[in-house]
Amino acid sequence: MDPRVAIIVALSVAISSFATVDAAKLHFLSHKERDGEASNFGRCSKRDPKFDECITKNLEDAIHKLKDGSSELGLRRFEPLDIPELLIGEGKGPVNVAQHFKNVRLHGLTGSKALESSIDFDNNILRAKSITPELILEADYTMKGRVLLLPIVGDGPCNVTLINTKINHTIINERIEKKGKTYWNVKQYTVTLRPEKVIFKFDNLFDGDVRLGNEINKVLNDNWDEVFTDVRDGYESSFGLIFHSLADRVFSKVALKDIFLD
Ligand SMILES: *[C@@H]1O[C@H](CO)[C@@H](O)[C@H](O)[C@H]1NC(C)=O
Ligand SMILES: *[C@@H]1O[C@H](CO)[C@@H](O)[C@H](O)[C@H]1NC(C)=O
Repeated sequence: MDPRVAIIVALSVAISSFATVDAAKLHFLSHKERDGEASNFGRCSKRDPKFDECITKNLEDAIHKLKDGSSELGLRRFEPLDIPELLIGEGKGPVNVAQHFKNVRLHGLTGSKALESSIDFDNNILRAKSITPELILEADYTMKGRVLLLPIVGDGPCNVTLINTKINHTIINERIEKKGKTYWNVKQYTVTLRPEKVIFKFDNLFDGDVRLGNEINKVLNDNWDEVFTDVRDGYESSFGLIFHSLADRVFSKVALKDIFLD
């Protein structure tokens, strides 16, 4: 990945998240823990023969519960998720243009369904598969370059919608101790994305030339697979960083014993 992409996304996500939870909230959290209802998350027993299923269900529940954010965990809303800036680099094939998105509102993540998951406790690795029926990226874009040899230039609102996107998640963590409790610190979060279809809508291409704009949007949509596949790496890196930040915000505040029993 272009290192600039990583930096912009990382910075953006950091800015859009609350840096810390204040003392009162932590206090509140520990109160609840004392009362035995530790957090939003159900716990799973490693001895349960259906442990993987339990984790899968709880992951999905957690995503749904975080929809509106959690003041207790200092999390902003996940639906839509605000991302100030995203840069998807050029591809190696037909997409000779960088896509620069600002004021991104990502809709649909909390509609994700967890399909399966597994945990390697010895190595602190969580693997999960999910599907998101509709992932809508609304943003202001700027582009100048070529796609499928056609010139493309514009700036304005856009909507990139990914339909039935299968996502494989690999989350590599390390254990850290804080105040006598063990937490997971997310070291690396990688994703692979396979949408069933992608719908592009870039408004105001060519200084608002509607006819040309419509033609280019049609070409992009007729060739969505080729176009998306060429820049999929960029989307995967960006989503990896977004998910990394989200996972970090949760795992840094919820101790392992509040996620897993025994
Ligand atoms: C974005 O596009 C999708 C698919 O075409 C559509 O369902 C959705 O309503 C659009 N969102 C906006 C804000 O236009
Ligand atoms: C997820 O991994 C499986 C192998 O475990 C693979 O068959 C599948 O294509 C992958 N899906 C995605 C979205 O990368």
